[in-house]
Amino acid sequence: MNIILLGPPGAGKGTQAQRLVDRHGMRQLSTGDMLRAAVKAETPVGLQAKAVMERGELVSDEIVSALIDAELTALGASAGVIFDGYPRTVAQAESLDAILASHDRSLDYVVELDVDEDALVERITGRFSCATCGKGYHDKFEQPAQPGTCDKCGGHDFKRRPDDNEETVRTRMAEYRAKTAPILPFYEARGIVRRIDGMADIDAVTASLESIVAGAPV
Ligand code: AP5
Ligand code: MG
Ligand code: ZN
Repeated sequence: MNIILLGPPGAGKGTQAQRLVDRHGMRQLSTGDMLRAAVKAETPVGLQAKAVMERGELVSDEIVSALIDAELTALGASAGVIFDGYPRTVAQAESLDAILASHDRSLDYVVELDVDEDALVERITGRFSCATCGKGYHDKFEQPAQPGTCDKCGGHDFKRRPDDNEETVRTRMAEYRAKTAPILPFYEARGIVRRIDGMADIDAVTASLESIVAGAPV
């Protein structure tokens, strides 16, 4: 099973991908996470991407497609993959076809998280994550059971993303509308797009996603 989670910033792609990883042993390939790791490690890719990400614009197609190709090579044939935040342009969608074919994989579903843009700023400005294990949280919608302690690893350090401010979020949304939403017709023509109400609560969204992954009609 190989699926793409598609949706604007704050739609819940990362949140839901983490749950599929925990429950089904799938692998989450998030180009955003890969780029943030590269920025932190100050690799050549990271140095190039840092300012672009802080502005909320898209990093080049070549960079992100190379990251995905490398991750799939490292992964081998074993686990199913959830693409989170990739592809984001028609050019990336075309590259992904070639990359998947070269790894003997094919795409099962493109799941679009349908959300109301007005809610996304609140979701994003309230987001934080565990600095140790990366588990995602929200000030209002998903707090640790015990304040200040990560549910998953027991860590006490949390962090926020530098691009999670209202101004950058607006740019990220505009980029999504202009460059990413146009990839939907590309996949609709193949009949593999499934739409989920991303405004439902986190567990309800997971339930809808689970039924897609199980191959059942939603
Ligand atoms: P990336 O890291 O992919 O960011 P994004 O697409 O803007 O998406 P987010 O991670 O902000 O949102 P999400 O959908 O994962 O939401 P989450 O689940 O965390 O990309 C960052 C940057 O890297 C880009 O701007 C670009 O510069 C670059 N980049 C990355 N990939 C690229 C590519 N392929 N090409 C070019 N450039 C690329 O949820 C958000 C919050 O809401 C959380 O706190 C969560 O707890 C909460 N929440 C989630 N679901 C719900 C719900 N149903 N109800 C209430 N709260 C919810
Ligand atoms: Mg994310
Ligand atoms: Zn943790």
